[in-house]
Amino acid sequence: EKGGYEHFMLKEIHEQPKAITDTYRGRLLRNEAIIKMAGVEDNMKKFLNANRIIIVACGTSWHAGLVAEYIFEDLSRIPVEVEYASEFRYRNPIIDENDIVIAISQSGETADTLAAIKLAKSKGAFVFGVCNVVGSSIARETHAGAYTHAGPEIGVASTKAFTTQITVLTLMALRLARAKGTISSSEFRQHLLELEMIPNKVEKALEADAHIREIADLYKDSRNCLYLGRGYNFPVALEGALKLKEISYIHAEGYPAAEMKHGPIALIDENMPIVVIATKKGHYEKVVSNIQEIKSRKGKIIGIVTEGDEQVRALADHVIEVPETLESLSPLLTTIPLQLLSYHIAVLLGKNVDQPRNLAKSVTVE
Ligand code: F6R
Repeated sequence: EKGGYEHFMLKEIHEQPKAITDTYRGRLLRNEAIIKMAGVEDNMKKFLNANRIIIVACGTSWHAGLVAEYIFEDLSRIPVEVEYASEFRYRNPIIDENDIVIAISQSGETADTLAAIKLAKSKGAFVFGVCNVVGSSIARETHAGAYTHAGPEIGVASTKAFTTQITVLTLMALRLARAKGTISSSEFRQHLLELEMIPNKVEKALEADAHIREIADLYKDSRNCLYLGRGYNFPVALEGALKLKEISYIHAEGYPAAEMKHGPIALIDENMPIVVIATKKGHYEKVVSNIQEIKSRKGKIIGIVTEGDEQVRALADHVIEVPETLESLSPLLTTIPLQLLSYHIAVLLGKNVDQPRNLAKSVTVE
């Protein structure tokens, strides 16, 4: 059942090229230069008239929501707020029939997310679900939705659910951008082309596996770890830190790289590994100067870089390469080495990767 892999998590990490392809299949029609999503099409008026989109989710799905915030605002020019479902539901939110709520959930059973949906509906909002499990409670409770077609995710640490959620949300943002005219037709076509190339590039990113295992071996005994990223890759830093925490029990924090100097920099010494997402597009020079700041404090730098990068390579203790893509699609690639890094650290420490202590696959209690 693990398809020759030692753990479900590793199997699911490696399934991402297929899962992403399955998720855009039949929706991304590149030759016709269109995106077809019934749940969006049928409610186009609501989407076009919406004052704002509020995304509610928990955990890794919330991180996918944060990535979506960048994509929706950047491409479709719709204001987006991203909320933890547990906070949203208990703080008397200001929301009405001109708002669209997008609920993201792999399992479709998360209690807080389900409660947030019910609250939003009671205030008249239109609620759209992005779920993986077909026929789940959240899928049934929402007005419309789009499934991720990741297939069953068994490992407690979410991997392919995350990248397929980002895929669905990217398709939605592109579809709405086209309808609103906030993206040119050539830019739209370029996005379709690049998105279609992502599964092959994920495959390529997965080839760093053995190199990542070596890095994992060097840092597995660390007590703390920082993850830094900017822009589209800030949420990826949060997700990288969550992955490490949940399966290896090493304390980790994700930060926007520029926030480092507002506090976390005090933690940096020669014992602190810092994973920095420093891909070519997206504030590259700024991230390079953040790396210099870390280096002068003797922090150990693991850079996630674009293939062929030289500048970060010259500064960092280690680099892990991912193929080049559009900035907006880069989270689909930069996430991969972070999943593998936490996987290998947890395995090397002898932890139960697929069923970490204290965690459940679906959190049906609040
Ligand atoms: C992390 C993880 C959790 C879930 C969270 C939401 O790897 O699995 O943080 O992402 O419990 O679950 P869903 O997406 O099922 O609502």
